[in-house]
Amino acid sequence: MIAFSMSEEQKQLQALAQTFTKNEIIPIAAEYDRLEEVPWQVVEKAFELGLLNASIPEHVGGLGLGMLEESIIGEEIAYGCMGIYTVLMASELGITPILLGGSEAQQKRFLAPMLEKPCLAAFALSEANNGSDAAAMGTKAELIGDEWVINGSKMWISNGGMAELTVVFASVDKALGHKGTVALVVPKEAAGQSSHKIKHKMGQRASHTAELVFEDVRVPKDNILGGIGDGFKIAMKTLDKTRIPVAAGSVGIARRALEESVKYAKVREAFGKPIANFQAIQFKIAEMLIGIETGRLMTWKAAWLVDQGLPHGTESAIAKAYCSEMAFEAANQAIQVHGGYGYVGEYPVEKLLRDVKLNQIYEGTNEIQRIVISRAALR
Ligand code: CAA
Repeated sequence: MIAFSMSEEQKQLQALAQTFTKNEIIPIAAEYDRLEEVPWQVVEKAFELGLLNASIPEHVGGLGLGMLEESIIGEEIAYGCMGIYTVLMASELGITPILLGGSEAQQKRFLAPMLEKPCLAAFALSEANNGSDAAAMGTKAELIGDEWVINGSKMWISNGGMAELTVVFASVDKALGHKGTVALVVPKEAAGQSSHKIKHKMGQRASHTAELVFEDVRVPKDNILGGIGDGFKIAMKTLDKTRIPVAAGSVGIARRALEESVKYAKVREAFGKPIANFQAIQFKIAEMLIGIETGRLMTWKAAWLVDQGLPHGTESAIAKAYCSEMAFEAANQAIQVHGGYGYVGEYPVEKLLRDVKLNQIYEGTNEIQRIVISRAALR
């Protein structure tokens, strides 16, 4: 049976995230976009409110929120700033492989400390020359005695270098393809790591993106999640889940685009009346609302499948591709509604467009989503 209503707990979480966004994010979003820095005070506040790393399960001491709750919260936070949401979302991306591939003991060991203070995780899969073809990773892992020794580099890593722990995907033997891959948990303090912040991004500038370099980085033998050959599959299963928050964030951006457009169209006059009176504007607004409603349904359906323990990879890819494209168009049309004013930073709509572009690229480009979707259709 399908119910289109939220539980009391979900409504409370939504209200909490809405208030958090209104008070902590919207007032500072433009400034941190300009500064190209993570507003750490927002991460601290999210931690205080239980909105950071909220999927850490109850057996570890966390809230154990489901994907549907995460999606409800994500839409609200991204409404305020997608870049800031990426900081929180990428931390969930970093802990998900531990939840999917780690033993209960490993989950306790790695995740319990993350509940004690505001801190972030990261997920290091992409490399400078291996983004979409993730199985071709060149970062090397070698088991020497009781330690894994990691050498190589990773690119485009959200929270890279800031995170307390990073799940690093590497290969013990490139010739084995995905069958030679491993997922290793690398704590921040492990020696031999360096990071280089990527600056002058088009959007999502309040998120932190870095290149990571590993030079003889040593971690204990039992920092491996699963076994040799499991790394790629753990990464794929992780992304099957974490593409849903990207979809949810996109819905949040589209909702902001719609609300800013409505607000502006009611006060801006042309030809002697508010532009909201013209069908040219009304149709744009209607299209935005159609997209938001459709996208949210897809996102929540994919999230519901995850929470039921049902297959969800195709639905997650559909939601991610559709919502990021729908939100891109909503942000684009919001600028059009605002005319020249939409093109400058005085109104938030130009930032929406810059921010949402990345949603079509990260956690698998939308072309990769279409590969995942078409494979399912052709199977
Ligand atoms: N779940 C479980 N197993 C899976 C799987 C899934 N979703 N997808 C594939 N596999 C398994 C296959 O069954 C196969 O196993 P066997 O060999 O045992 O049969 C194995 O993995 C290899 O699968 P494929 O042959 O299908 O793999 P492929 O090389 O053709 O690649 C791909 C498939 C879909 C293109 C994949 O490479 C992919 O998703 N690429 C995109 C990577 C990506 O999303 N990167 C984003 C990084 S995160 C990020 O953006 C950073 C950030 O900070 C936000």
